[in-house]
Amino acid sequence: MKFEKNILCIGAGYVGGPTMSVIALKCPEYKVTVVDINKDRINQWNSDNLPIYEPGLDEVVNSCRGKNLFFTTDVANGIKEADIIFVSVNTPTKTFGEGAGMASDLQYWEKTAHEIIEHSDRDKIIVEKSTLPVRTAEALDKILSSNEKGINFEIVSNPEFLAEGTAIKDLIDGDRVLIGSHNTEAGLKAAKAISNIYAHWMTDEKILTTNLWSSELTKLVANAFLAQRISSVNSISALCEKTDADISEISYAVGKDSRIGSKFLNASVGFGGSCFRKDILNLVYIARSYGLIEVADYWEMVIKMNEYQETRFVNKMVKEMFNTVADKKIAVFGFAFKANTGDTRESPAIVIIKKLLEERANIAITDPKALKNARLDLEGIDQNVSYEPDPYKAADGSSAIALATEWDEFKDLDYKRIYDSMKKPAFIFDGRNILNHKELFDIGFNVYPIGKASLTHF
Ligand code: UDX
Ligand code: ADP
Repeated sequence: MKFEKNILCIGAGYVGGPTMSVIALKCPEYKVTVVDINKDRINQWNSDNLPIYEPGLDEVVNSCRGKNLFFTTDVANGIKEADIIFVSVNTPTKTFGEGAGMASDLQYWEKTAHEIIEHSDRDKIIVEKSTLPVRTAEALDKILSSNEKGINFEIVSNPEFLAEGTAIKDLIDGDRVLIGSHNTEAGLKAAKAISNIYAHWMTDEKILTTNLWSSELTKLVANAFLAQRISSVNSISALCEKTDADISEISYAVGKDSRIGSKFLNASVGFGGSCFRKDILNLVYIARSYGLIEVADYWEMVIKMNEYQETRFVNKMVKEMFNTVADKKIAVFGFAFKANTGDTRESPAIVIIKKLLEERANIAITDPKALKNARLDLEGIDQNVSYEPDPYKAADGSSAIALATEWDEFKDLDYKRIYDSMKKPAFIFDGRNILNHKELFDIGFNVYPIGKASLTHF
């Protein structure tokens, strides 16, 4: 079959995989190829057991794979064939050198740029899909235009706004897509080619076009604003625990103000995920590098508040359990950074568990989708950790439950049965405020929510 266009995505991760699957679904006349250097990952994408868990993803992949959606490790041929190349390789926070702990590590990006030059023999559109610091496109432009083959690579920024756990829904029915390009004839033409992809299923009003720098910065700002709301509400949750105020009542009442709105106001043990921390640190780094100290400090505080919230939660656990958790079994309900994903990057559960292990507790982790990643995250320090798919077994014989992820599965458990199997006094720390606290208290638990009065039998 002859396809109208060849679209390639380099990087078959949480962003590239779902995004390309939806593009393939909505654009049957385009051939969509996803390449990755990681052979295992590609094998999984070609199997019944996809490398990431995302509601609705299996169905989309099954309906397109082998027809107009292909997963392969053949990067060279993928590049050669492609008209449009989305680059969705990882851009972790730098762990070394200048900007360590703050700036993005762009080595994978730069490698990719050189690969693109090496295997191209005609003009192509290159789409930045990974989250990149502002003005990365400039550096990429320089690398790509330094090619000696006379090829024009037109750079477009198209940041992703999908949230894990709802990625397919966000892609199919997102609030907007953003396409940034150079304000030149070639730039605008490239932006149009990318708009045409999304126009297969999105209305014109939702397709926003901007200059390259605005598009790159918008991604960081959107995430910073979302994270800021959580840190703001979490800061108030600490105040609530000192007073008779209740954070859920406050969030509800504050969110009723239509200027504020109700979303992202759930107090929690802290936000996790691959984007928030990384993007805000990036913003801080950029602001600081322009000498904007106050701006940098302002945004950095959002991160500090998140770290405070994680530490506060675990410190409270230890304090309430008579200042010692040594040799006590603690069941951690949830390891993913949020519900409906197996992703554990920057998950607050990691911080909590590390601290509990330092205090010499024995940990049993249960999670519907994240146990595999939990093992990887705790490799080398997990002598006193067990991984248990069944929450009843995880809780059996434990002194406390720490709920770290808001999985629906944890709401409807038989907590009487769990209580009966636990050591007394039994503690439950609800880091997501999703359980019925009164009911748990009546069963016999000592209950510690976030930002509300604790319910204890002492
Ligand atoms: C985020 C952005 O939402 C998305 O637009 C961007 O493209 C990538 O980063 P994601 O990291 O997948 O998506 O998850 P998100 O739903 O934003 O949640 C982030 C963290 O905040 C999670 O740990 C979540 O549990 C926590 N959270 C969210 C709260 O603690 N309270 C809330 O009210 C909302
Ligand atoms: P994200 O959440 O941004 O999608 P992931 O880490 O899940 O990030 O995915 C990035 C993917 O990019 C990884 O699977 C990694 O193997 C792949 N990758 C990194 N560098 C290259 C490269 N030069 N060529 C192809 N794939 C790459």
